[in-house]
Amino acid sequence: MTSQPTGWTSSTMAPSIHRHADPVALYDAAAEMVATHIRQAAEARGACRLALAGGSTPRPLYRRLSQPDLAEHIPWKQLDVFWADERCVSPEHEASNYRMAQEALLDHVPIPAGQIHRIQGEIEPLRAAAHYADLVGDDPLDMVLLGMGSDGHTASLFPDTPELGHDIRRVVVTRSPVPPIDRVSLGLTAINAARLVVFLVVGPGKAAPLAEVARQLASPAPRLPAAMVRPTSGALHWFVDDAAAAELPELEVET
Ligand code: 6PG
Repeated sequence: MTSQPTGWTSSTMAPSIHRHADPVALYDAAAEMVATHIRQAAEARGACRLALAGGSTPRPLYRRLSQPDLAEHIPWKQLDVFWADERCVSPEHEASNYRMAQEALLDHVPIPAGQIHRIQGEIEPLRAAAHYADLVGDDPLDMVLLGMGSDGHTASLFPDTPELGHDIRRVVVTRSPVPPIDRVSLGLTAINAARLVVFLVVGPGKAAPLAEVARQLASPAPRLPAAMVRPTSGALHWFVDDAAAAELPELEVET
């Protein structure tokens, strides 16, 4: 079910909420949207610049995208892959967001190696951020995939970092409350400049923070980073399963 719920309005377009009874249906639908958007961006602008989410939630989405029924219809040679954030660890480290995407997707599709733009988690964070900012550049990303932590963080933008809402840098160095501590992340400026932002939120552990984010989305001064994701002109989609949506305000079915 896709809906435009009350109480989720933000300063720009209201987000579209895609609620699915189970994660399998959610990942199918999200993969379809991602694949379609890659094709549309490639057709419209000759290339698609996609930033992948980290954490564990997106793994099934990446595996789904690597399956032939979708992968054969994605113009991989017109796709440039970035990351929404990275832990400051080596690319071989088990906590590496690059490694997760490599194993779940990139090793299984014909994307040219030169079009994979990882954050160099193995070098000093400020240097990694400067290098990555050059890679990302100033053009809007076509799509940013995001997860959400149980504390309402997204990418590696964590609550209670006062400068967060005012930081105009496209790439930032942050510190996580849980290891790996040092992080490099897209900043809100780069995320909110994207043409399409897609959140993936799955499981009962996200029900309370998701409800709090929903409440804060209508606020002019949200506290949780996930509620600060309000694309300036792009579209915002939330893919949530029933377990994560259990505490959401009533959703109006999209007409
Ligand atoms: C990261 C992610 C982070 C993640 C949330 C949710 O590097 O950890 O960018 O923002 O999306 O922490 O993580 P799970 O999907 O593992 O619950």
